[in-house]
Amino acid sequence: MQISPVIHISHLQKRFGKFQALHDVTFDVQPGEVFGFIGPNGAGKSTTIRTLLGLLRATSGTATIFGKDVFRNAVSIHKNIAYVPGDVYLWPNLTGGEIIDLFLKLSHQRHSKRTDSLIKAFGLDTSKKARTYSKGNRQKVALIAALSQTADLYIFDEPTSGLDPLNEQIFQDEVKALKADGKAILLSSHILSEVEQMCDRIGIIREGTIIETGTLAEMQHLTRTQMTVTTKTPLTDLTNQPGVHQLKQSDPTSATFAVDSDAMTVVTQYLAAHQLLTLKSTPPTLEDLFLRYYGKQTDQVTNSETGDGTDA
Ligand SMILES: Nc1ncnc2c1ncn2[C@@H]1O[C@H](COP(=O)(O)OP(=O)(O)O)[C@@H](O)[C@H]1O
Ligand SMILES: [Mg+2]
Repeated sequence: MQISPVIHISHLQKRFGKFQALHDVTFDVQPGEVFGFIGPNGAGKSTTIRTLLGLLRATSGTATIFGKDVFRNAVSIHKNIAYVPGDVYLWPNLTGGEIIDLFLKLSHQRHSKRTDSLIKAFGLDTSKKARTYSKGNRQKVALIAALSQTADLYIFDEPTSGLDPLNEQIFQDEVKALKADGKAILLSSHILSEVEQMCDRIGIIREGTIIETGTLAEMQHLTRTQMTVTTKTPLTDLTNQPGVHQLKQSDPTSATFAVDSDAMTVVTQYLAAHQLLTLKSTPPTLEDLFLRYYGKQTDQVTNSETGDGTDA
């Protein structure tokens, strides 16, 4: 049985006058899925999201939410989505609490027990006027209002850029709970660690074009764990171990190399058999992927053998 996607975007293009912000954006988001929309500043994340919200009209391509055209059916779609923009603007003379309730009212929802528990979890002082709030507090107001809404799709545009790690963790837990509840979540970010924590699949956007889409596992096989080890007995045949790359050995009992993730078990067993003394291991991060695409150091990150079969 085919589940229909919550978001379906196909070959979306958006021009602002002569400037083409989106060239080719294609991805789906399924129910019960956290989709990470990753790219550097200016790549087109917010433009894609504003198009999805019907705030901008696409130049060409299709975008649907719940199977409906995002521009023509914006009103009915909005009844069932919650959204937190990248830049949160609040009414300066209203208190945080008043604004949360206003946001809820605008979405035809009510202040609930859940709203109270979110306010408590994020530690927001709702009695203060919004003009006294820091960026992080403004974000909390928007997050609390969005998270306390009942919706089938939640869209967060760089939601945690002003939050401290503790509040970021609270946000992550909330998103996981929504996912467990079968909701669809679109989360844009240029913070890779945040996405690695939460997302089932990610799409990487660069200069208005999605250049890769896949599960984290699919992406991680493209990167390798970096290891530095010392052993008691000489590592004479480490170079012949499958999955070991870029081996550097200053002497027979110490080595630095990269390991394919699917070869980890075998390689660690090999190392243990040589009486491992010290081990430093740096796990693969999306940073590595980013370097491949955006960095000047692309040559350092292995890419020639990895193929490019993840994005159809
Ligand atoms: N209303 C607009 N008019 C002209 N250019 C715009 C407009 N909105 C965004 N852009 C441009 O489109 C590109 C993508 O912007 P944006 O979607 O905000 O990127 P991101 O959210 O990934 O940082 C940028 O070069 C930005 O300057
Ligand atoms: Mg943006």
